[in-house]
Amino acid sequence: MKTIVVYRSKSGFVKQYATWIAEELSADLFEYSKININELLSYDTIIYGGGLYAVGINGINLIKKNIDRLEGKKIIVFASGATPGRDDEISEIRNNNFTVEQQKKVNFFYLRGGYDYNKLTPIDEKVLAHSLLQL
Ligand SMILES: Cc1cc2nc3c(=O)[nH]c(=O)nc-3n(C[C@H](O)[C@H](O)[C@H](O)COP(=O)(O)O)c2cc1C
Repeated sequence: MKTIVVYRSKSGFVKQYATWIAEELSADLFEYSKININELLSYDTIIYGGGLYAVGINGINLIKKNIDRLEGKKIIVFASGATPGRDDEISEIRNNNFTVEQQKKVNFFYLRGGYDYNKLTPIDEKVLAHSLLQL
């Protein structure tokens, strides 16, 4: 079984989880921009991790747009966000990112991250302030 962990991380939370998972499984570890679909196809198990930004999983299109080509492989996705991760929140993340059909093919997990205010860009700060105002 060949396993790969691919991650896209802005401030490091997802990278840390991805590193732990890859170490534990002795899997290959790649940053999102360093991998393409043809390389992914050589693995049996694909684990993808991305941060949550406005309920969207950062970089998840890599999996979604290639889901048919990944048929027959084990696909695991984890998202890391600041939300505590109640069941209803996890359902919302799942439904917001995957169609019902895609949910049958993807095993989804939520792993809690946090905020690293030192690494926010000015745009991140604006979006974050806007979403906090809506709470
Ligand atoms: C602009 C912005 C939007 C965010 N939106 C969400 C969100 O919708 N849900 C959530 O749980 N966390 C949200 N977060 C928090 C991030 O998902 C959290 O910091 C995550 O751990 C980041 O992981 P990364 O640094 O590895 O990308 C947001 C953060 C920022 C800066």
